Amino acid sequence: MIAQANGTISITGIGAYAPERVVTNDDLSELMDTSDEWIVERTGIRERRVAADDQALSDLALPAARAALEQAGTPGADVDLIIVATVTADMAFPSAAAILADELGADEAGAYDLSAGCTGFMYAVAQGYGMLAAGLARHALVVGGDVLSRILDWSDRRTAVLFGDGAGAVVLDRVSEGGFLGFELGADGSGGPQLYLPAGGSRAPASAETVAERKHFVQMNGREVFKFATRVLVSSAEKVLAECGKTVDDVDVYIPHQANIRIIDHAADKLGIPKEKIVVNVERYGNTSSGSIPLALADAQAEGRLQDGALVLMTGMGAGLTWGSGLIEWTANGRTP
Ligand code: ACO
Repeated sequence: MIAQANGTISITGIGAYAPERVVTNDDLSELMDTSDEWIVERTGIRERRVAADDQALSDLALPAARAALEQAGTPGADVDLIIVATVTADMAFPSAAAILADELGADEAGAYDLSAGCTGFMYAVAQGYGMLAAGLARHALVVGGDVLSRILDWSDRRTAVLFGDGAGAVVLDRVSEGGFLGFELGADGSGGPQLYLPAGGSRAPASAETVAERKHFVQMNGREVFKFATRVLVSSAEKVLAECGKTVDDVDVYIPHQANIRIIDHAADKLGIPKEKIVVNVERYGNTSSGSIPLALADAQAEGRLQDGALVLMTGMGAGLTWGSGLIEWTANGRTP
């Protein structure tokens, strides 16, 4: 799906939350046969956050959501749509979004979770945009977050070193000018087996056997995912820019999914985006799946990089296999009443 956005709808609040516990590469090398040197060289990751035992996804989402709503000046009760992009909701049902709606006092909100792997946040932002543009919602809260530490095999060095926990949130509102210019979303289900969680769904329900076979943990073909990621980060960005009549040179801030610094560098080189325009925090958080782009957005804002009128390109990719980009002309003009 590729479309130009023609409503004046923007992000008016950003919030992020990462658990306090920091796990360094050296900590991991005590658990498995790996090293700080290997992880930094192959991924750029130096440390990641891991949720406390009593923290589920909604516990990470709540502080992020509260911060985003505060920045937007939107009381929880005014939110009429909540979308939580995640593959690690508190439980299969109820949705994390319904739990969040209750905690925020968003009694009038439609609330649901969305599953698109690490691309979830971009899908959810596009959906939120569409609901506002169609007049079906006025103030949307979009959360991206995951607690991947709960579905990682901590004895598998090929996956455990790559990921971390975290959540971010944005508020979408109508604004007087600027806002989203377009989106590009895609999915190639034939690549699903390259990155998946085999058991716990309706195809292979949880059983003593699935547990013994460690089928409740992330399985990944790293090399294939690497090739896929480098390809779609470039193609998705090029498509959304072309659709919106923009070029790479117009981009002021580039926020790619934070999976691996080599993937980011490769995409930026191919696209021709200079380093100073790229937001990178993978060294501190690892790959937080749906939390990745909103955590990076929050960092970009804290660093003063989201200036009025800046053209911001965001691209995610992940399980599905899926990908998605959004292009936004940043606006500091605030929401319209
Ligand atoms: N520590 C030490 N050695 C390791 C580790 C580790 N953590 N992991 C693998 N190795 C070893 C392998 O066993 C292999 O050893 P061998 O040559 O003796 O067999 C060697 O390192 C090289 O392994 P490769 O898999 O070929 O290493 P590669 O350079 O491909 O890097 C990596 C692996 C980092 C996983 C890379 O393929 C990658 O980044 N892939 C993309 C993964 C990703 O980003 N997934 C998520 C994206 S989508 C989403 O966000 C959900």
